[in-house]
Amino acid sequence: MLMLDVLAGKRTDRTPIWIMRQAGRYMPEYLEVRKNYNFIEMCLTPEVAAEVTMQPIDAFGMDASIIFSDILIPAISMGLDLDFIKGEGPVFSNPVRTENDVNRLVSDISGDEVEKVAEAVTLVRKSLPETTALIGFCGAPLTLASYMVEGGTTKNFSILKGMLYSEPKTYHKLMEKITPVLVDYLVAQAEAGANIVQIFDTWGGILAQEDFLEFSLPYIKEVIKGFRAKSDKPVIYFMKSNASFLKYLNNLDVEALGMDWTINLREASEATGNNFTLQGNLEPLVLLGDEKLIKERATRILEEGKNLKGHIFNLGHGVIPQTPVENVRYLVNLVKEFRR
Ligand code: CP3
Repeated sequence: MLMLDVLAGKRTDRTPIWIMRQAGRYMPEYLEVRKNYNFIEMCLTPEVAAEVTMQPIDAFGMDASIIFSDILIPAISMGLDLDFIKGEGPVFSNPVRTENDVNRLVSDISGDEVEKVAEAVTLVRKSLPETTALIGFCGAPLTLASYMVEGGTTKNFSILKGMLYSEPKTYHKLMEKITPVLVDYLVAQAEAGANIVQIFDTWGGILAQEDFLEFSLPYIKEVIKGFRAKSDKPVIYFMKSNASFLKYLNNLDVEALGMDWTINLREASEATGNNFTLQGNLEPLVLLGDEKLIKERATRILEEGKNLKGHIFNLGHGVIPQTPVENVRYLVNLVKEFRR
């Protein structure tokens, strides 16, 4: 598997590509299935999750598939009621605000949800071409906590940061409950057949550096360490807005770091001691441009990638629903034809 070779630090003659959020609303096939289910039902019905996971692979032939699920699923197992509301995104009706709320959370994955995700993983692994890797995932502790505490998407993270500054003990207690759940969630996916796991830290860059070191990084390390104790599968850590945090990610025990588009790969590699395979980092909205622009930007990134320890092509964040399908196809083919 090309993805595993690159993550193992082997030289390959081409650069693998997959796309964050590659199964989703920009695809007509997805919207067709989505008519019949709400989003959480899709995630928790293994046959449906598996079908949707396969859609981009069948349509475009990426080198990796990512299980169709969501970083918020483990919060349901922990006891929160999750709903996705059109135009608003995820909403928890019983968010975690006090020490009592934290105490009420279950800190294991014995609920049905993780089992359903694991079943979907097994189904997908059976349908995928042998050369296509399957990625399992979870959210990073801080990113998951932001939704659990805020109760949904937020502009300024005031409730989360309020907890962090005024009730740090409650926050740390919450982290201590979330962390083992994330470990078990990743291990369950790895055991069910995922070849790689990725930790999504969408909101990792919202903290002051000193707060990142105290409130976020130790728990990221704990998730990685817990996973390593139970699995030897490679780990990718994707943190959005990580450019000014790279000096702290330098010694992270992962095979690859995901990069957003706000730094070039050469600088990112220098800042991390050329120690990691890097994943990324095309600005997702470049896919709203024409083929000339896409080719120009993607080729520059591929050229930069030649000098890294390893390079996995991806966008710097998820593909957006407005993206023309033909541009995704054009990008995947372009990357697959590029020779290192
Ligand atoms: O990458 C993939 O194809 C796998 C599936 C995947 C989804 N969510 C499906 C999804 C993955 C890896 C995620 C991760 C995720 N979910 C993150 C981290 C990565 C990122 O994109 O920042 C976060 C923060 C979430 C939480 C979440 N899920 C939000 C805030 C939303 C609403 C916003 C939106 O894009 O609609 C979701 C919904 C969601 N997750 C959809 C999909 C396909 C849209 C569901 C729909 O309405 O059909």
